[in-house]
Amino acid sequence: MTQKLWTAVDDYIADTMIPSDPALDGAIEASREADLPDIAVAPNQGKLLQLMARMVGARRILEIGTLGGYSTIWLARALPPDGELVTLEYDPKHAEVARANIARAGLSDLVEVKTGRALDLLPSLTGPFDFAFIDADKISNAEYFRWALRLSRKGSVIVVDNVVRDGKVIEAGSDDPGVIGSRRLLEAMAAEPRVSATAIQTVGIKGHDGWAVALVIAD
Ligand code: SAH
Ligand code: DHB
Ligand code: MG
Repeated sequence: MTQKLWTAVDDYIADTMIPSDPALDGAIEASREADLPDIAVAPNQGKLLQLMARMVGARRILEIGTLGGYSTIWLARALPPDGELVTLEYDPKHAEVARANIARAGLSDLVEVKTGRALDLLPSLTGPFDFAFIDADKISNAEYFRWALRLSRKGSVIVVDNVVRDGKVIEAGSDDPGVIGSRRLLEAMAAEPRVSATAIQTVGIKGHDGWAVALVIAD
């Protein structure tokens, strides 16, 4: 009674609070048909990202790790009509699927999917971004956090997915790149005086994992 129960509760929450939506459901369906990995955020997580972006009144959003654009669509819908979301994706096939899903959601004017390694693309971006969602390769999370911070302003929020990894984050000697990346990230956030940050562990349809959340408190 662990994963089965977590999944049932996530399904209950989604059924109760998150109406089905053709663009979001279609993005998951098209991603499955294109054989993309099933690692998009859960519906209740996508909605929480959207709510957080709205809470900070985000007009410009940065995403690192697009996959099929599922989290992208949730986040872009938080934007005003003249808002902007830039999302970075290494895999050209993922980017292509995402662009089609974003177009079907009617969000192409607001969203730019840039293809390439995030660490190569980030230096070409101009800030500030009001909200950043980091969800690409986990080993680079501390560097992505550094970039998101450089491209932020006082009041920006930075969220990082997958920082708990079934609890393995507590294994100090781990050679798992995801664990090493998470620990480096959390240590970097804790040591950075320009942010106030925490992490929460989550259970649900995506297993046992968690988010790090940082508020930029100084320019
Ligand atoms: N945010 C998405 C899921 C992203 S999955 C959602 O919730 O819907 C992680 C994505 O990061 C994958 O598509 C993978 O190809 C991409 N990725 C991995 N390494 C990357 C890198 N170095 N630069 C940019 N994207 C990368
Ligand atoms: C993986 C990546 C993710 O972004 C995620 O949410 C879950 C798993 C992965 O690479 O295994
Ligand atoms: Mg993720």
